[in-house]
Amino acid sequence: MAERYGNIVGWGMQVPERVITNQDLEKLVDTDDEWIVSRTGIRERHVVSPGETASEMAIGAARQALDEAGVKPRDLGLIIVATSSPDYLTPPISSQVQHGLGAKDVGAFTLVAGCPGFVYGISTAQQFIGSGACDNVLVVGVELISRYVDYTDRTTCVLFGDGAGAVVMQVTDVPSGVLSFVLGSDGSGAEHLILPGGGTVAPPTHETVDEGLQYLRMNGRQVFRFATRILGKALKQAIQQAGLTVDDIDLFIPHQANKRIIDSAARYVGLPEEKVFINIDRYGNTSAASIPIALTEALEQGRAKPGDTLAFVAFGAGLTWAASVVKLGERTVPQPVDAEWLKRFSSMGSGLSRAFGAVSGSVGSLAGKLVGKNRLN
Ligand code: ACO
Repeated sequence: MAERYGNIVGWGMQVPERVITNQDLEKLVDTDDEWIVSRTGIRERHVVSPGETASEMAIGAARQALDEAGVKPRDLGLIIVATSSPDYLTPPISSQVQHGLGAKDVGAFTLVAGCPGFVYGISTAQQFIGSGACDNVLVVGVELISRYVDYTDRTTCVLFGDGAGAVVMQVTDVPSGVLSFVLGSDGSGAEHLILPGGGTVAPPTHETVDEGLQYLRMNGRQVFRFATRILGKALKQAIQQAGLTVDDIDLFIPHQANKRIIDSAARYVGLPEEKVFINIDRYGNTSAASIPIALTEALEQGRAKPGDTLAFVAFGAGLTWAASVVKLGERTVPQPVDAEWLKRFSSMGSGLSRAFGAVSGSVGSLAGKLVGKNRLN
């Protein structure tokens, strides 16, 4: 049987219109542009206005990715939404995204793994595609961290921005997609980056609000130390696991948390500056959305293109980390035969529909065989 790879065939991003510059923050807290730029690399960030939601941004980014891929929402096999700032604790935001896209009855789940959530997401999507369970998977990273930020706390409010990024991964037999991944977690560092209130340990009460437990708390120095220790190592491991060397990497797209942390990881593996993608200056840290936003911009700017080998690396609350080497394969276009055939098959009554669910993995791979592929060069 041919190998099944999850090639990235669509991408998209959405950020709020409102921009908060370092100069704006100078008016709120005791900080200055020079400090923020030299310590973090951030100049401005996009932040939601009242009424804007994470699900709307996720749906906007996902629609672009689906259009780019030429995949209809109903033809998705799975939707994964990585976030730590969903609209609600329950229901899961993934179902809102599924419904908003019109991806009728498509399975969807929310993945919470801090900032590396998107890298966890594409690594998971690859397993579903590789096993034959799905042909098309949507992976979204979305965050509205600004709603957790205390804009009187200068140690956190300068760092974060809001946004969403998405990719569509599609089965192909050409080696591409996630070539390797390294996923890690160390819960002993939980207190270094924590939203203490609002969960089941401290459900919201007048007291928790008076204590400010609804705001993100961070031990910046500890997180910085952890990140510089882990990122380079994880990146090196992912490159080795892919059977490649650092010279094979065309573009390094790191989580955009701090320019100094990115520089230190790039230095550790020996990646030159021109191979490092940076957009933290315009978006700040958008957590799980930062890599798909950076990937979309890299593709739109021609910094990344089909055939390129990319390296992703991220760290975040948990503490967690993830690295992955991803090959952008040529795009393939499914022939219309599969969608029509599957639609007719699945509309033959609920009993059949249940049976269809039970055998969807094998039908999926059968359809995969029926689908002709046109290579786009
Ligand atoms: N403006 C001016 N001064 C500030 C500010 C600010 N915005 N914030 C802190 N300072 C002060 C501190 O109070 C401290 O003053 P002190 O020496 O009088 O106590 C001084 O600057 C130095 O503080 P440090 O914390 O040592 O500064 P550092 O160089 O470590 O930079 C920073 C702080 C930028 C937060 C850094 O530690 C960092 O980036 N850590 C990682 C944070 C991170 O990436 N978090 C998110 C990861 S997970 C996710 O992405 C969701």
